[in-house]
Amino acid sequence: MLGRLNHVAIAVPDLAAAAAAYRDVLGARVSRPQALPEHGVTVVFIDLGNSKIELLEPLGENSPIAAFLERNPAGGMHHICYEVADIRTARDRLTAAGARVLGDGDPKIGAHGKPVLFLHPKDFSGTLIELEEV
Ligand code: CO
Repeated sequence: MLGRLNHVAIAVPDLAAAAAAYRDVLGARVSRPQALPEHGVTVVFIDLGNSKIELLEPLGENSPIAAFLERNPAGGMHHICYEVADIRTARDRLTAAGARVLGDGDPKIGAHGKPVLFLHPKDFSGTLIELEEV
């Protein structure tokens, strides 16, 4: 069921500083910042060739990463995203196995314009998992 690693998302308090560190210190290829108001974040994409890193900074009120940054003021790994071929089939298998899908269980359109679901971190070693249909 589980496919490739799509991205690792890192919540950051200062997107410009984090992007500069990846570009200038680590020598990575970083995108321009993109505001995604419908997702409550501004994001910088880092292309690693075989996968991506996404640096996320809160945008607006009620950002989904605001509480995380309150607990982790220096930033930190927020979630990891795996690809699946059919997200509803994946959801049904997971819920049948007792895993908790966040929200109402219906896939939402994620930051890449594709259906996504999030799984409860307590069910997966303390890691928030995003599934993206590709
Ligand atoms: Co993501």
